[in-house]
Amino acid sequence: MVKFEKDKSLKEFNTFGIDAKARYFVNITTTEELQALLQTDIFKNEKHLILGGGSNVLFLNDFEGLIIKVSLKGMEIVEQDDETISLKVAAGEVWHEVVMHCVQNNWGGIENLSLIPGTMGAAPIQNIGAYGVEIKEVIKEVEVIDLKNGAKRIIKHDECRFGYRESVFKSEWKEKYFISSVTLTLRTKRHQLNISYGAINDTLQHMHITTPSIQTISQAVVHIRQSKLPDPRVLGNAGSFFKNPTIAQEHYQLIKNINPTVPSYQTVNQEVKVPAGWLIEQCGWKGKKINEVGVHAQQALVLVNYGSGNGKEIFELSQKIIESVKEKFNITLTPEVNIIA
Ligand code: FAD
Ligand code: EPU
Repeated sequence: MVKFEKDKSLKEFNTFGIDAKARYFVNITTTEELQALLQTDIFKNEKHLILGGGSNVLFLNDFEGLIIKVSLKGMEIVEQDDETISLKVAAGEVWHEVVMHCVQNNWGGIENLSLIPGTMGAAPIQNIGAYGVEIKEVIKEVEVIDLKNGAKRIIKHDECRFGYRESVFKSEWKEKYFISSVTLTLRTKRHQLNISYGAINDTLQHMHITTPSIQTISQAVVHIRQSKLPDPRVLGNAGSFFKNPTIAQEHYQLIKNINPTVPSYQTVNQEVKVPAGWLIEQCGWKGKKINEVGVHAQQALVLVNYGSGNGKEIFELSQKIIESVKEKFNITLTPEVNIIA
């Protein structure tokens, strides 16, 4: 028997803290429950949205349809050899708890992704990344359920077509599948430590760590993130609101001629990635507050809800930011956050 709740507030279910209501809401804890849900009239007749931790969504209105909350739990080792393990993790597991479990067991590969909010199931969708690592590097396969017929299917790593904050689940197969679990391949020895990015090295030095380990890298990443990014429990936000844009070399040179200190990252195809946070700050938005919404004072890429802001206000602010970055730099920012109309 599938249990639906009606007119449920989503305030606790999205990290922006937007007080939108869902006409129907269902909590899914097993794949069998999901398969039963697919047979119901409510699923067949209503639009639906799958929701993990709600840390990458912005609700513009009440959701006039069915919210499917992902609460499948469990982790199991499905394969092991001399140097690696394959860990199958259910979609509703909290990502940071997965990272902590792995770090404690000395399973390496995801320590740089510590403290990213959200669930396991959502992680492959935008190929979560931070501090020089993307989750694609450890994803072996993704188990999905086809929302049309309830059939289970395994999507192998190469079929996921991962890119920067992208995958096939966000493009061609958007809303086609329910991700039920993800299998990660992690190293049990000879860890490949990644400390070159951002402030990791400096933070390790401050911690007096001379021989880093996956445990101390995780601690350093947690420390850096806590100093830069607002805690959604205190200040509503969804992390970076926009993706970092990539522009042609010539375009970058024009910007650099006027702003010699513009930060940049080289990409593989000769283009240049420019931090959106810098562009937004240059347009004067950093720390701006408009009624109950605004741009974070420590990180201009993060839009915030001071408490009673609504989704439309945050969206309107994002549109104004897009316009001013376009006008000043001729760059069109694209949202990373999923806008739910
Ligand atoms: P949700 O927001 O619930 O959903 C996101 C999308 O995935 C929606 O379209 C939803 O329909 C879909 N979805 C969710 N679960 C499933 C499923 N099981 N099957 C099918 N579809 C599904 N991201 C980064 O990459 N790097 C960062 O460093 C980072 N830092 C952040 C810091 C903060 C403070 C915050 C608030 C967010 C940050 N994010 C970051 C963004 C966010 O944490 C990730 O995108 C995360 O993977 C979202 O997980 P979620 O479970 O909350 O997804
Ligand atoms: N910067 C500014 N002003 C700002 C913010 C940033 O000038 O207000 C400059 C910084 O000085 C730095 C550069 O921009 O030179 C990059 O800043 P930061 O290291 O904070 O990273 P980011 O590019 O803003 C990205 C990801 C984050 C991820 C961090 C760390 C995107 C869209 N964002 O942010 O991911 O945690 O790097 O790897 O790629 C997310 O996706 O939600 C997210 C938080």
